[in-house]
Amino acid sequence: MALSSYFVAFISLIALAASEGATWSYTGDHDTKAPADWPSVAPLCGGNSQSPINIIPSEADYDDDLTAFTFTNYDKENPATFYASNAHALKVTFNTSQEMPSISGGGLVGTYRFMQLHIHHGKSSAKGSEHTINAMHYAAELHLVHLNNKYATFEDSLGNSDALAVLGIMIEVGEEDNANFSSLIAAIPEVTEDGSMAEMTGKFPLRACLPEDDLDVYYRYPGSLTTPDCNEIVQWTVLKEPIYWSEAQLQALRTKLLVGGADSDPLLLNFRPVQPLKSRKVKTSMKPVDDGASGVAFSFITMATMLLSALFLM
Ligand SMILES: *[C@@H]1O[C@H](CO)[C@@H](O)[C@H](O)[C@H]1NC(C)=O
Ligand SMILES: *[C@@H]1O[C@H](CO)[C@@H](O)[C@H](O)[C@H]1NC(C)=O
Repeated sequence: MALSSYFVAFISLIALAASEGATWSYTGDHDTKAPADWPSVAPLCGGNSQSPINIIPSEADYDDDLTAFTFTNYDKENPATFYASNAHALKVTFNTSQEMPSISGGGLVGTYRFMQLHIHHGKSSAKGSEHTINAMHYAAELHLVHLNNKYATFEDSLGNSDALAVLGIMIEVGEEDNANFSSLIAAIPEVTEDGSMAEMTGKFPLRACLPEDDLDVYYRYPGSLTTPDCNEIVQWTVLKEPIYWSEAQLQALRTKLLVGGADSDPLLLNFRPVQPLKSRKVKTSMKPVDDGASGVAFSFITMATMLLSALFLM
């Protein structure tokens, strides 16, 4: 009798823990925890190296180790492509037996293979990105998540600050539909349940998620996953150059992606507010530009010196 009641208590504790783990959200609706309360469901969310952050370009340190990335298999037209809703974001994973796309260089040690991509958006295009630049939001932000090749699985990587390399790409409102994302957006209504998957028609090379140019212009800082458990295992790269989606495409994210599958609420927003930088430094691959004023002063002095020498020579 005593034994079996212990057993019951144990089971319900597990059930409680499991349901607590599942109760975070971006809004705090339906008894869920809003971002400010995430540390109560996932203590790491209250850590000292959290993401996203506000990036202040004028305070970022130039680092010449932040070279260009090498993108491998980014042009490959991944044939079997699936996407899934995990109730918190539009997420894409590849079902392919071929070699995964990967990145190296870019100041990273080693090679990181593609794991998944997902998109953060807002209620309107005024606010939706997770990172902000000089406190300004972009309409949305795409995250390309890569796992360090030295770890066999994501679980093995947990607890290591070099586990993940995430590329953050800002999405700005453009005049036209971005055709590179048409098949992804068209497939959204096929995801009818939390965690269900749909196949995209057409090919989806990861290169199509990147801006055309300036892939070597970026910010770098050490941070975390931006959703619980908020593990501080990410080397963040935020590209300076955005990509463009039409307003209609952004609207599809807000209205067609359903939090809990069919008949549930649309996922109106899914960005975490910026977190304190604390003792971290943001680095940049952008060379400081020559200060125009000192350049002028220099040439003035040079000219004066030349004039003076000319006078003495006479
Ligand atoms: C991946 O694709 C293969 C071949 O089409 C299929 O047999 C397998 O079930 C798929 N796996 C998943 C997880 O969808
Ligand atoms: C679409 O993807 C290609 C690479 O596959 C890229 O060159 C092009 O700039 C992308 N177009 C837009 C609008 O982002």
